[in-house]
Amino acid sequence: ITGDAEAGEKVFRKCMACHAVGEDAQNKVGPVLNGVVGREVAAYEGFQYSDGLTEKAAEAETWTPEHLAAFLENPRDWAPGTKMSFAGLRKEEERDNVIAYLATFE
Ligand code: HEM
Repeated sequence: ITGDAEAGEKVFRKCMACHAVGEDAQNKVGPVLNGVVGREVAAYEGFQYSDGLTEKAAEAETWTPEHLAAFLENPRDWAPGTKMSFAGLRKEEERDNVIAYLATFE
């Protein structure tokens, strides 16, 4: 993980309408992202995933930094049928930084 977690905290503002991290985080429109780096794809307890992301999980089992970067660049392209309505992070630096930020939450 090469990104800057502090810069990633600002990028995460784009995600906060739908995702929570940290102590007491709850599923919202999207699943809790604690521990997502290294976590199984589409497996957070109590969250109802789309068929698209669930099918993708059969092939890409774990959220490696590489899979996260690909998903975040273009969610619908990487996981057709995903219900994450987010255009994506076009800048590599933003992707790297937000992944570094997410990696600070166990
Ligand atoms: C799923 C990250 C923005 C809604 C996910 C997952 C990740 C992620 C890693 C998969 C989690 C898992 O497999 O458990 C992010 C990041 C964002 C962002 C880093 C900002 C850069 C958003 C926004 C929304 C959203 C803005 C709502 C408009 C969702 C939903 C899912 C999801 C609904 C479940 C997808 C499905 O089941 O197909 N997100 N997200 N996310 N996210 Fe986001």
